[in-house]
Amino acid sequence: MEDLKMNYKFPKDFWWGSASSATQMEGAYNKDGKEQNIWDYWYEIAPEKFHNNIGPHNTSNFYYKYEEDIKLMKELGHNSFRFSISWSRLIKEDQSVNEEAVKFYNNVINTMLQNGVEPFINLFHFDMPMYLQNIGGWENREVVTRYQNFAKKCFELFGDRVKKWFTHNEPIVPVECGYLGHYHYPCVVDFKRAVQVGYHIMLSSSLAIMEYKKLNQGGEIGIIINLTPSYPRSNSEEDLKASNIADLILNRSFLDTSVLGEFPGELIEFVKEQNLLPEYTKEDMEVIKNNTVDLLGVNYYQPRRVKAKESKIEEGAPLTPESFFDFYDMPGKKINPHRGWEIYEKGIYDLSINIRDNYKNIHFFISENGMGVEGEEKFKVDGRIEDDYRIEFISEHLKWANKALNEGCNLKGYHLWTFMDNWSWLNSYKNRYGFVEIDLNNDYKRTPKKSAYWFKELITNNGF
Ligand code: NOJ
Repeated sequence: MEDLKMNYKFPKDFWWGSASSATQMEGAYNKDGKEQNIWDYWYEIAPEKFHNNIGPHNTSNFYYKYEEDIKLMKELGHNSFRFSISWSRLIKEDQSVNEEAVKFYNNVINTMLQNGVEPFINLFHFDMPMYLQNIGGWENREVVTRYQNFAKKCFELFGDRVKKWFTHNEPIVPVECGYLGHYHYPCVVDFKRAVQVGYHIMLSSSLAIMEYKKLNQGGEIGIIINLTPSYPRSNSEEDLKASNIADLILNRSFLDTSVLGEFPGELIEFVKEQNLLPEYTKEDMEVIKNNTVDLLGVNYYQPRRVKAKESKIEEGAPLTPESFFDFYDMPGKKINPHRGWEIYEKGIYDLSINIRDNYKNIHFFISENGMGVEGEEKFKVDGRIEDDYRIEFISEHLKWANKALNEGCNLKGYHLWTFMDNWSWLNSYKNRYGFVEIDLNNDYKRTPKKSAYWFKELITNNGF
């Protein structure tokens, strides 16, 4: 790695904290009027799909423990925290508002503000209400309108105190995992339907932004995108072309649309050539054009290493993005030994420079970065997890983030995924990411890991 000898100081008011999502931490999945979402339903019909058969019914119970958790955030020096509002908790099938949910989210927001932890709220984190999935989920334009109403309601209810809003988290994920793979319900593989879903998600984001602006609440609204910088294997024309298609589909579909208000021309060409054009209207395209984000959250975990298509496509196999490129294992890449993912810290710098140069130098923050570790209990010494690997992971990423800042990137903060170990979709509790350990066998007892105290020190000094 390039030598980065400097003092890693961060600007005053830098956002330090962590991120989570409703389904992954709230618990109380069927309490106080919450209705079913796709995860509750999927677990009900196919529990064996989930690691160790643990479903969304067994999460860290933030619903009951939020006061303790927020106090702990304060103790650990955090000044901000991102969570999401559960759509199926707030809005009932008959479209009325669930007052119990309003009470809960008000309590959370007020407790955060009292403790100096700024609430960052995200509206959609993979948790489609089942009553809307039953009418087609994101494939159905009507669901986009229902989301618009949900967003508006959230701003009206909480926007007097919440000043950082996000429309979606990782918009590619429901598309890639639910319509091009088998990791999210409804787990179908159909490129055309996937494009329709992606288009509707982006449209819904712009409609939410439009609603927010109408209310003039004086805050900011953005979207959280997982950027996976796409690095070609070589400079050959074929590898460059493959890497460009991967970047277009996986990153730019979301990034260009959110920040520049348009789908990249090359992407539109590609979609037309492949006969994948979604149903759309001119009016909706105008909404996308006129309602771009104020700020961006970027989740960064790993890059994608791309080469020209070499593997054979099986006879009759459905068309997917990977019909156009292959991923490859870069020799000598650094790997997280506890999870297998590549670790490439410089990716954070590369994506920041890209945002500075090609996306209006819009202000953004690292809204997720983190290290999932399997079997973390083995690092326990005297009751505390000594996660030096996580400290190294965070600091190496922050060094590159700091370099980006020094080179004029408008980077505003860093949030770790996640505050306390949480339930993570099909992987359930397989990989632990938190600053704080939770004990599933002892009423979800919270115990901060070594990294939590190291991070506190970093926040106190605003650098390291
Ligand atoms: C991204 C997602 O936002 C979150 O839901 C997930 O659990 C983490 N990454 C870790 O994989």
